[in-house]
Amino acid sequence: MNHLHTALWGVLPYLVLAFMVTGTAWRYRYDRFGFTTRSSQLHENRLLSIGGPLFHYGLLFVVAGHLIGLLIPEAFTERVHVHEWLYHANALLVGGVAGLATLAGLAILLHRRLRVPAVRGATSRSDHAVYPLLAAVILAGLAATASTTPHHHYDYRLGVSLWFRSLFALDPDVPAMSHAPLVYQTHTLLGMALFALWPFSRLVHAFTAPIGYLARPYIVYRSRGARHVPVNRSAPVVPPPVRDAAARR
Ligand code: HEM
Repeated sequence: MNHLHTALWGVLPYLVLAFMVTGTAWRYRYDRFGFTTRSSQLHENRLLSIGGPLFHYGLLFVVAGHLIGLLIPEAFTERVHVHEWLYHANALLVGGVAGLATLAGLAILLHRRLRVPAVRGATSRSDHAVYPLLAAVILAGLAATASTTPHHHYDYRLGVSLWFRSLFALDPDVPAMSHAPLVYQTHTLLGMALFALWPFSRLVHAFTAPIGYLARPYIVYRSRGARHVPVNRSAPVVPPPVRDAAARR
């Protein structure tokens, strides 16, 4: 095992993670109002309403597929009678369709960004890196999925997935990844580059998903006297009514 493999698969993932966490904290601290998707919906809506959902729903399935494929051991799926061929046929079909939908959505969003002058004007420097990188990650992922055929079979759950899980045990299984085919290595390296860029681009909006919305009360009641206001952490902070403020003076 040479030093390059140790650096790429044993050290780099932790550097990327540290970069991502500190970068996100820094961005949140110093650019809280820029911690958004920088929506361009006001400039153009038609293409956005097609490309946006296609990209995001496709990506949702891709992420779900990654979580299952990378985190659930093959021994477990075998035990619940999901056999290897069935698992991979499913990954090829569902993963392939989801990956293609994500790619098609990204192509529409990219076309919109390049062809609609107002949207092009609202394009930031980080977008110039993020869009090509996203396209490269998705294309390499699709190439990895397509490279698995019954004749040429690499079982990534016995290689890439072992490496991925070993990172959490702080004992990186470098050989598991250094023996993976080049297309899987390329896809993973591009994925790590994307994660490193994440905090400094519009991708940070993924961390702003309104999860608290799911647990919010349907109706927010406030007493008229505003002496005892029920605590609702997801509600915006509203100044006291003018009448109360005047009475207090
Ligand atoms: C760095 C961590 C990542 C690892 C270890 C990883 C691993 C993999 C593996 C093993 C496959 C092949 C699945 C198969 O053969 O069935 C794959 C496919 C794919 N990956 Fe990734 N990936 C990573 C990051 C990403 C990111 C950040 C994106 C998108 C933004 C992405 C998008 C895709 C797509 C579109 C496919 C093809 C469709 C699919 O199988 O879901 N990957 N990835």
